[in-house]
Amino acid sequence: MVIGGGRCRSLQLLFVFILLSLCMKPAVGLSTGDEDADIKCIERERQALLMFKQGLIDEYGHLSSWGNEDDKKDCCKWRGVSCSNQTGHVTMLNLQFRSYMPLRGNISSSLIGLQHLNYLNMKYNDFGGKQIPAFIGSLKNIRHLDLSNAGFTGRVPYQLGNLTSLQYLDLSFNFDMLSKKLEWLSQLSFLEYVRLNQVNLGEATDWLQVVSQLPSLTELQLRGCNLPSVIASSSVSFSNSSRSLAHLDLSLNDVSNSVYYWLFNSSSSLVYLDLSSNKLQGPIPDSAFPNPTSLSYLDLSNNQLVSVPKSFRNLCRLRALYQDSNNLTDLLPNLFLKLSNCSRDTLEILQLNSNMLRGSLPDITLFSSLKELHLYDNMLDVLYLNNNRFTGTLTKSIGQLSQLELLDVASNSLKGMITEAHLSNLSRLTYLDLSHNSLILNFGSGWVPSFELNIIRLGACKQGPQFPKWLQTQNKFSELDVSAAEISDTVPNWFWDLSPNLYYLNLSHNHFTGMLPDLSQKFTAYPPEIDLSANSFEGPIPPIPLTVTSLILFKNMFSGSLSFLCQISDEHFRYLDLSDNLLSGELPNCSKNWQKLTVLNLANNKFSGKIPDSMDFNCMMLSLHLRNNSFIGELPSSVKSFTQLTVLDLGHNKISGIIPAWIGDSLPDLVVLSLRSNNFHGRVPVQVCHLQRIQVLDLSQNNISGTVPQCLNNLTAMTANKSSNAMIRYPLRTDYYNDHALLVWKRKDSEYRNTLGLVKSIDLSSNRLYGEIPEVTSLVGLISLNLSKNSLTGPIPSKIGGLTLLNSLDLSKNMLMRAT
Ligand SMILES: *[C@@H]1O[C@H](CO)[C@@H](O)[C@H](O)[C@H]1NC(C)=O
Ligand SMILES: *[C@@H]1O[C@H](CO)[C@@H](O)[C@H](O)[C@H]1NC(C)=O
Ligand SMILES: *[C@@H]1O[C@H](CO)[C@@H](O)[C@H](O)[C@H]1NC(C)=O
Ligand SMILES: *[C@@H]1O[C@H](CO)[C@@H](O)[C@H](O)[C@H]1NC(C)=O
Ligand SMILES: *[C@@H]1O[C@H](CO)[C@@H](O)[C@H](O)[C@H]1NC(C)=O
Ligand SMILES: *[C@@H]1O[C@H](CO)[C@@H](O)[C@H](O)[C@H]1NC(C)=O
Ligand SMILES: *[C@@H]1O[C@H](CO)[C@@H](O)[C@H](O)[C@H]1NC(C)=O
Ligand SMILES: *[C@@H]1O[C@H](CO)[C@@H](O)[C@H](O)[C@H]1NC(C)=O
Ligand SMILES: *[C@@H]1O[C@H](CO)[C@@H](O)[C@H](O)[C@H]1NC(C)=O
Ligand SMILES: *[C@@H]1O[C@H](CO)[C@@H](O)[C@H](O)[C@H]1NC(C)=O
Ligand SMILES: *[C@@H]1O[C@H](CO)[C@@H](O)[C@H](O)[C@H]1NC(C)=O
Ligand SMILES: *[C@@H]1O[C@H](CO)[C@@H](O)[C@H](O)[C@H]1NC(C)=O
Repeated sequence: MVIGGGRCRSLQLLFVFILLSLCMKPAVGLSTGDEDADIKCIERERQALLMFKQGLIDEYGHLSSWGNEDDKKDCCKWRGVSCSNQTGHVTMLNLQFRSYMPLRGNISSSLIGLQHLNYLNMKYNDFGGKQIPAFIGSLKNIRHLDLSNAGFTGRVPYQLGNLTSLQYLDLSFNFDMLSKKLEWLSQLSFLEYVRLNQVNLGEATDWLQVVSQLPSLTELQLRGCNLPSVIASSSVSFSNSSRSLAHLDLSLNDVSNSVYYWLFNSSSSLVYLDLSSNKLQGPIPDSAFPNPTSLSYLDLSNNQLVSVPKSFRNLCRLRALYQDSNNLTDLLPNLFLKLSNCSRDTLEILQLNSNMLRGSLPDITLFSSLKELHLYDNMLDVLYLNNNRFTGTLTKSIGQLSQLELLDVASNSLKGMITEAHLSNLSRLTYLDLSHNSLILNFGSGWVPSFELNIIRLGACKQGPQFPKWLQTQNKFSELDVSAAEISDTVPNWFWDLSPNLYYLNLSHNHFTGMLPDLSQKFTAYPPEIDLSANSFEGPIPPIPLTVTSLILFKNMFSGSLSFLCQISDEHFRYLDLSDNLLSGELPNCSKNWQKLTVLNLANNKFSGKIPDSMDFNCMMLSLHLRNNSFIGELPSSVKSFTQLTVLDLGHNKISGIIPAWIGDSLPDLVVLSLRSNNFHGRVPVQVCHLQRIQVLDLSQNNISGTVPQCLNNLTAMTANKSSNAMIRYPLRTDYYNDHALLVWKRKDSEYRNTLGLVKSIDLSSNRLYGEIPEVTSLVGLISLNLSKNSLTGPIPSKIGGLTLLNSLDLSKNMLMRAT
C-alpha cells in the first residue's frame, strides 16, 4: 500500500533499531575479562551522555543501563545509544519510550559534545513547557530529528536552520509552539519529511514560498498550524517539489479556495492529500485534478463544498475518499458515475456522511473493491430506483458486494424491503447500520447469514412482530439496536447469552412483554449501555451488570423496589431513567453508587419516604427528576453538592419546609426548577434571582407566602429574547439523552422534550403571595407568566404590554385593580 509510505519507512527504521539494541543488550552480561578490547565508547562522549542523564528525571528507569559501574563502561551498549562501529562515535540517540512513561527534566547542553550524532529522537517525553534548546542547531550532522509530542513550548529556534544534513524533521504536537517565519527551513535542501503539526505558523506568511522550494520534499504535515492564507500567484506553487511531494496534510487550518491555484495544478505526484476541516467553499474547479493523478487518499471532510468536480473522473488510483460534513447536494448516481470512470477497481473506502446527497442508492457493485460505504445522514431515497438503468434494487446491488465490510446508510429516506437473499453474499460484513430509514426487513425464521456482525444497528427498521430469530446465528456483536422495530414478543432466553461482547443494547420503543432474567452476569466485557424503554416489560428490575453505565427503562410496567441499585458500582454509572413505571418503596441508602450519576429520573412512580440526605458529593449530576411520587420530608441539603445541576423537577410530591436559600447560589447552572404541587412554605428566597440561566421557574401549588420578589427582573436568561439551544441534552455513548419537563401551558400539562431549551416561563400560581406585582419589564424573553390564584393586590403593571413574546398571561383569581 502506498498510503503513508513515509511513515512506514521511518517506523521500519525505528523497528530495526530497537531490534538491534535489544540484540546487543545480552552481550553486556555475557562478556567476561577481556572487556576493554570491546569498548568502543569514546570517554568524552560518555561523559557528555552522563551529564545529559543527570539533568533528566528518569522515573521509569529507562536509562538504568547508563552508568559508571564497570559493567556499564561501554556507552555504545547503553539503551538508546548507538555508535559507529568504525569510529566509535555516538551516532544515534533514540529516547522514544511509551507515551505514558516519559523522561522529564532538562536537556543538558552537554549534548553538544556528540558532534557525530546523525539521529536524535525524543518523542513522547515530557519537557514540561521548556523551549527546544537552540544548541541542537549545532549538531550539524543530524539527519533525523524527532522532537514531537515532547512537551516543548515557545519559539522554534531558528538555529535548527543550521542542520544542513537534515532529512527528517518532526516538531509536531507540542504545546503553543510557534514559528513566526519559516525562512530557517529554506537552506535545508535535503529535507524529505517535514512535520510541524500544531506549530503555530499564523504569522509565517513565507511558509508556502519556503516549503515549495525544498527540492526533496516528500511529506509535509501542517495540521492545525493556523496557516495564513496565501495569495494566489503564479510564483508560488509546488512546481519545484512536485516530483517528490507525495504526502500533504493541511487539515485543520483556515485554508480557503485559493489553495486550488497553487496546489492542484502542480502536484501530480501527490498520493495522500488531507484538506479536511478548512474553509473550502462552493464548487471545486473542474481543472482541480489534472489527468493523470496518483492520488490514493483524499480527505476533504468538514468543509463547505457543494459538489464533486468532474475531474474526480481522473482519480485512477483512488482508494479512500472522505468528504463527510460538507454541503454536497449531488445526485448520488451522478457522483458515482464520476468516481466509477476510473476508480471502480481501486476504491475501498467511500465516506460521505452528513451531506445533502439526493437520489437513489445506485448500483454500488460498480466498485469491485469497496470495503466501507458511509452514507449516514443524507437525503437519499429509492423512489425511482427500479425503473432506471441501474441494475436491480437497492438491496440486490448491495447483495453482490462480496468484499463489503461496513455498510452505513443510516438516517436517509431509503424505502423498500430487504430479504435474506439480498444479504446472502456479504460474507465479510461486520458493520451494518440501516437505522432510521423506512426499510422493512423480512428474513425467514431459519435464515443463517454468511456474515458475523460486530455492529448491528437496525433502529426503526420494521422487523416485527416476532423477535428477529436470525440474531441467534450471531455471537460476536457488541452493539445491537433493534429499537422501534414493531416487535411484539417476549425476549427469548437464548438472547441474553448470545454475545459476551455486548455493550450497547437498544430494544426501546417496541412492544416487548414479560419479565427480565438476572442480568448481573451478562454484558461483562465492557461497561454496558442498556435501553429497554417504551415497552411493556413487567415484574421486578432484576440484578443488573455491576458495571452498567446507562440503564434506561422508562415507560414500562416494572414494579417492586430499587434493591438492585445498591450492587451497581459507581465507577461507570451515569444514566438511570426509570420514569413511568410502577416502582415503589423508599430510595435505598446507597448513595455511593450515585457519585458520578449524570441523570437520575424516577418520575411517575410510586416511591415514598424521604429523599436520602446521603447522596452527597455528586458534582456530576445534571438532571434530577423525582416528579409525581410520594416523597416526603424536606429538600435534602445534599442537593447542594450537585453544582452542575441543570434540571431539577420535584413536582407533585409531598415535600415540605422552606425553599432553601442555597438553591440560588449552589446550583448556578439551573435551567429548569420545578417544585410544583408540594408543601413548601415561607417566602421565595431572593437568592432565586441569582439563577442566571433559569428559564423555567415553577413554584406553583404550594403554600408560599410573602411578595413576588422584585428581583425576578434580574433573571438574565429570561431577559434575552434570543433562544438558546432548543434541546437540553447530554451525550450518551452513541446518542443523546434529551432532557424534558412537564409544564403547564395554558392550563394544560404539556411535555417539552425537543424544545425545552426554548421555553421561558414563570409560574407562581396557587400560593399565598400578596402585595403588588413588581414591574418585570426586563423579562422580554418570557413566554408564559402565571401568577393566578394568589392574593395579589394593586394595579396590573402598565408595562407588562412590553413583554411582546408573552403568549400566556394568567393573573386571574387575585385582588388586582385595573390600572388608572
Ligand atoms: C532543571 O533546571 C532547573 C533550572 O535550572 C532546575 O531548577 C532543576 O532542578 C533542573 N532539573 C533537574 C532534574 O536537574
Ligand atoms: C557496522 O555495523 C553495521 C550494522 O550496525 C554492519 O552492517 C556493518 O557491517 C558493520 N561494519 C563493520 C565494519 O563492522
Ligand atoms: C549557525 O550558523 C551560523 C553561520 O553559519 C553561525 O553564525 C551560528 O552560530 C550557527 N548557529 C548555531 C546554533 O550553530
Ligand atoms: C524553481 O527552481 C528554479 C531553479 O532552481 C527557480 O529559478 C525558480 O524560481 C523555482 N520556482 C519556484 C516556483 O520556486
Ligand atoms: C492550472 O494552470 C492553468 C494554466 O497555467 C490555468 O489555466 C488553470 O486555471 C490552473 N488550474 C487551477 C486549478 O488553478
Ligand atoms: C453550508 O451549510 C451550512 C449549514 O447548513 C450553511 O451555513 C452554509 O452557508 C453552507 N455553505 C455553502 C457554501 O453553501
Ligand atoms: C475516464 O478515465 C480514463 C482513464 O481510465 C481517462 O482517460 C478518461 O479521460 C476518463 N473519462 C472521462 C470522461 O473523464
Ligand atoms: C451471490 O453470489 C452468487 C455466486 O457468485 C451469484 O450467482 C448470485 O447472483 C449472488 N447473489 C446476489 C444477491 O447478488
Ligand atoms: C445512609 O448511609 C450513610 C453512610 O453511607 C449513613 O451515614 C446514614 O446514617 C445512612 N442513613 C440511613 C437513613 O440509614
Ligand atoms: C403519576 O404517576 C402515575 C404512576 O405512578 C401515573 O399513572 C400518572 O399518570 C402520573 N400522573 C401524571 C400527572 O403524570
Ligand atoms: C438585581 O440587580 C440589581 C441591579 O443590577 C442589583 O442591584 C440587585 O442586587 C440584584 N438583586 C439580586 C437579588 O440579585
Ligand atoms: C435507543 O434508540 C432510541 C430510538 O432509536 C433512541 O432515541 C435512544 O437514544 C437510543 N438509546 C440509547 C441509549 O442510545
